[in-house]
Amino acid sequence: MTDGGTGELCIREFVPLRNYTTLGVGGPARYFVCVTAVDQLPAALDEALRRSLPVLILGGGSNLVVSDRGFPGFVVQIGLRGIETSGPGLVTAAAGEEWDRLVAWSVERGLAGIENLSGIPGSVGGTPIQNVGAYGQEVSETIESVRAFDRSAGCIRDVPARDCGFGYRASRFNTADRDRFVVLGVTFQLREDGRVNITYPDLASRFPAGTMPCVDEVRRAVMEIRAAKAMLLDPAVPDSRSAGSFFRNPVLSLESFAELENRAASTGRLEPGEVIPRYPADGGRLKVPAAWLIERAGFRKGQRQGRVGISNRHTLALVNLGGATSDEIIAMMKQIQTGVELIFGLRLQPEPVFVGF
Ligand code: EPU
Repeated sequence: MTDGGTGELCIREFVPLRNYTTLGVGGPARYFVCVTAVDQLPAALDEALRRSLPVLILGGGSNLVVSDRGFPGFVVQIGLRGIETSGPGLVTAAAGEEWDRLVAWSVERGLAGIENLSGIPGSVGGTPIQNVGAYGQEVSETIESVRAFDRSAGCIRDVPARDCGFGYRASRFNTADRDRFVVLGVTFQLREDGRVNITYPDLASRFPAGTMPCVDEVRRAVMEIRAAKAMLLDPAVPDSRSAGSFFRNPVLSLESFAELENRAASTGRLEPGEVIPRYPADGGRLKVPAAWLIERAGFRKGQRQGRVGISNRHTLALVNLGGATSDEIIAMMKQIQTGVELIFGLRLQPEPVFVGF
């Protein structure tokens, strides 16, 4: 992996961040440096400290909403690359490696465990932070350990998965220890037997019952599903200019879910005989699709407000229709939150990270 000697840091100024996010929104970074070797990182962090500036660690920018006013601090882009094996199914990827390149690399070698996460934009380093998940798989199921620079101790640590505090779209890295660690690399324990999990309804319906597809077939199916929902980055598909899911799916206790059912029924939001879609979640709770709540609160796919819209293909994605401002994104986010809360009494929580607000 590219963690060789320290090179000279190349610090740039007033770099437009919109070019580094999939949503394509955001003003300039006061300072911007790309770290391509591990031992450049402490030097970059020291530079920020010397100027008493806040630091933003930038990965693939696929889960970021950056303010039009930009970030008045020090952006450190993680440009570490490389994929290595160190034992049967044991794969380590550097944080700056493109996530989907790692998935393709693993699938090519018949290794199972991350194929359902095909086509997700962003870099490897971002995946443990929000415990990326899709189609019935989460990275926490295969992560063995996370190598990170501990900013409070000034040293590199290997954090085993059991100490990462993984939950739905959560880990210690975005909760209790937010901003403490900079992820440098992730080690995955993948399965050499190639056994796949296709229980997620969208995926199961692609294969005849009782068949066991290979990892490559599952990857191809996931890519097709994501393409149909404009969840694959493609400059030719305007609906893909988004930060992916803009809201988390609410996870409710059985009691809160019963309340939600009552509200849905009493406000006439259910078709005759219809039940609210739900998925099992940790602790006997239920996960409810935010997209369903948004639609039943009266919003629709393709709805526009200025230069921002709800994706034509998936209600959970807000799309930059061209030249959108961050204020327009926030205005639409709030409108959706208020609309859903008014009907269902639930406040949807945004999923992306907000910078410079
Ligand atoms: N639905 C709608 N309208 C839509 C889309 C979905 O009502 O336009 C409802 C339907 O009831 C559908 C259900 O939502 O059955 C689930 O839809 P989908 O399978 O597309 O998944 P999701 O819950 O909307 C989550 C993740 C996605 C991930 C998919 C697939 C979150 C916040 N989002 O979305 O992750 O790709 O499952 O597993 O958990 C992301 O985090 O950025 C992301 C794209």
